[in-house]
Amino acid sequence: RTAYLNGQFLPLDEARVPVMDRGFLFADGIYEVAAVLHGRLVDNAGHLARLDRSLAEIGIRNPHTAEEWERLETQLVEKNAVREGLVYIQVTRGVAERDFSFPKGDVAPTVVMFTQEKSIVNNPMAETGARAITVPDLRWKRRDIKSVALLAQVLAKQQAAEAGVAEAFMVEDGVVTEGSSSTVFIVTRAGALVTRPLSHAILPGITRKAVLALAKETSLAFEERLINARELPEAAEAFYTSASAFVMPVVEIDGKALGDGRPGPVARRMRELYFAFAE
Ligand code: PDD
Repeated sequence: RTAYLNGQFLPLDEARVPVMDRGFLFADGIYEVAAVLHGRLVDNAGHLARLDRSLAEIGIRNPHTAEEWERLETQLVEKNAVREGLVYIQVTRGVAERDFSFPKGDVAPTVVMFTQEKSIVNNPMAETGARAITVPDLRWKRRDIKSVALLAQVLAKQQAAEAGVAEAFMVEDGVVTEGSSSTVFIVTRAGALVTRPLSHAILPGITRKAVLALAKETSLAFEERLINARELPEAAEAFYTSASAFVMPVVEIDGKALGDGRPGPVARRMRELYFAFAE
C-alpha cells in the first residue's frame, strides 16, 4: 500500500512520524475520512471544507488548497487502485520540543494520508440491520472539531464490540449526542425523521447533511431536535450515518428490538437515495 507523508508518496510500512510529533504527544491534530465509490471520492468538497474548518478552529494553517488536497487524494486512490473504501487524512501541529503551548516560529504541520479498501455498498450488515448500545458520552466540549483525540470513542466502540454490537450511541444528560463514529437518526412512530441539531456537542456529519437534503428533496418530514435516550426503544426505526457506513439501519438498541426487528422502510429508502447520490 502507498501512503502520503509530507509531500511524498511512499510505501505505507515505511511512513514514519517522529515521536516528538504533537499529534503523538498531545493528539494535537485533526483528521478527515471520505468514502471512495467506483474509484471516485464521495461528497469530497464537504469533507475538505470541514478539514479547513477543523484546522482553523485549532489554529493550524491549512497546508493545501481544496484543489491541492483533492489532487493528492485522487493520486493516492489511483496508486492504491481503490475502487471502494476510504481515504484518511490527518494533519497535526508538527514536530517540536514538548511544551503544551504552540511551538514558536513556523513549524510545518505533519500531513499523513492513506487509503483503506472497504465494502460499503454491499455490507451484509445493512441487510439484517445493525445493533447498538447506549453509553455515556465521555468527550470534551468541542466535538464539532474532528480531533484525533478519540479515546472516549475508542472506549465506547470497544464497549459495543464487547457487547457484540456494531455501534455505541453516546448519551449526555439524558439526550443522545451521536454514535462513536456516526450521526444518529430516529424515525418516530408518527413517521418523522429526527436528528440532533448542529452545535459544539456533535460533529457536523457530511453524510448527515446529504441525508437531510435528500429528505427535503423527497418531501420526507424531518426535525432537527434533541433525542431523549428514552425515545430510542420507542422509535419506529433508527439508523446511523457516516462516510464509512453511508446509511446503516439499526434494528436493536440495548437489547430491545425496534419495530419488527428488521431494517425499516425509511432507513432503507435513505440508504438507496444516498447510494444514488454517491454514485
Ligand atoms: N467518523 N460523528 C462522529 C463522532 C464521527 O466520528 C463521524 C465520522 C460522524 C459522521 O460524519 P461523516 O458523515 O462526515 O462521516 C459523526 C469517521 C467515519 C471516522 O472517524 O472514521
